[in-house]
Amino acid sequence: MKHFLIAPSILSANFAKLGEDITDVISAGADLLHFDVMDNHYVPNLSIGSMVLQSLRNYGISIPIDVHLMAKPIDGLISDFASVGATYISFHPETTKHIDRSLQLIKEHGCKAGLVFNPSTTLSCLEYVIHKIDMITLMSVNPGFSGQSFIPIILKKISQTRKLIENSNYNINLAVDGGINIKNIRSILEAGANTFIMGSAIFGSPNYYDTIHMIRSVLSN
Ligand code: DX5
Ligand code: ZN
Repeated sequence: MKHFLIAPSILSANFAKLGEDITDVISAGADLLHFDVMDNHYVPNLSIGSMVLQSLRNYGISIPIDVHLMAKPIDGLISDFASVGATYISFHPETTKHIDRSLQLIKEHGCKAGLVFNPSTTLSCLEYVIHKIDMITLMSVNPGFSGQSFIPIILKKISQTRKLIENSNYNINLAVDGGINIKNIRSILEAGANTFIMGSAIFGSPNYYDTIHMIRSVLSN
């Protein structure tokens, strides 16, 4: 695994030319794509479903994709997204009645499993499922929209989660989602994150290559 992963969130991409825009962000150096699924029920916004992922895979997008489910219920969606090429499937613990069963389902489909925690959600459910997790994502905004501001107290949660991962001895990515930009990314790295999900800071910038290059140099210095 690389020291850190830059994961552009396609929620901020240009949906009128999604394939092209994603190809550009991949050429610019993205490590992982972040695919936000919103149902206007669990979160107050509606985005894209598995048909769009299927189209992107058919178009030739082959890099790893993390499907971030902000929807309820999720077990049907897990099967849908797994069958069209999701690499990771990440969900919020409060969106399923049976966390362990949903994680199991992801694994049975051969995908990697992630749990996503809202800013005020505790990590307590990890105690008995951490061995089934490949990625923990901490929301640093309330889910539903791109372009919101990073909630500063999440830095503390990142450090706590990093300790928890280290104590577990499992190889788990620690991702942060929401409000990350060139100014605050260094503090997020120092707190212990290794995967940086970024929507508006990348897709809203004039040149993806320059932006990702700048992000990498801030992270590496
Ligand atoms: C928010 C989504 C994020 C969002 C991040 O609910 O889960 O992935 O696209 O966008 P920015 O980086 O603009 O906060
Ligand atoms: Zn997301």
